[in-house]
Amino acid sequence: MPITTCIFDAYGTLFDVAAAARQAAGEAEFPHLQDNWADLANHWRQKQLQYTWLRAITNAHADFWDVTQDGLDWAMEAAGLRGDTALRQRLLDLYWELQAYPEVPAMLQALKDAGMNTAILSNGSPAMLDGAVQSAGLGGVLDDVLSVESVGIFKPDARVYDLVGQRFGCARNEVLFVSSNGWDAAGASGYGFVTAWVNRAGDPVDRLPWKPAHIMADLTTIPDLAKG
Ligand code: LAC
Repeated sequence: MPITTCIFDAYGTLFDVAAAARQAAGEAEFPHLQDNWADLANHWRQKQLQYTWLRAITNAHADFWDVTQDGLDWAMEAAGLRGDTALRQRLLDLYWELQAYPEVPAMLQALKDAGMNTAILSNGSPAMLDGAVQSAGLGGVLDDVLSVESVGIFKPDARVYDLVGQRFGCARNEVLFVSSNGWDAAGASGYGFVTAWVNRAGDPVDRLPWKPAHIMADLTTIPDLAKG
């Protein structure tokens, strides 16, 4: 079945989640972040994701903005930065305007030129996603931005992946689902999407029952993959 619809995870896939801590570390107010911004960003991301899974399996949903703040609070305390309210606020502000990876605008434009449907499918709340899409200038090359908030549970619950067929009326195997999160690519493969795992860090493949169909180092080859 040819691909008609290209769906992207947002955080880590289109938007660089380490950019907030990296940028704050370069600002004069936060010299104490220069040596540990990468650990802080990593802990923040890991806790944020763990909290989504734990909230999903315990039926205790909170939106991604709350979970993002909880993850940051854990990471700041682990780094000895608990109580640094100026840093906390700066990192949260930067999270609303994360940089897109450099190849993203041209890649999405190429998909639109090829007649593909394009959309984000993300754990992010609608307001967070709107902020990121607007600040990266991607509104014109995305047909829609789908948030888990319309079903009230996080990925990789199948009800989230169902949103794609509901929106575009496409079969599962017409969808190319692109994620930098190995567990998300695995979950989407199990659901029946054709999947591409963007593995910028060269990580091992997740030991889950489902594997990504394609693995790449960045997003530049996505249009050729989608066109077949
Ligand atoms: C998202 C998270 C998983 O955008 O990165 O859905």
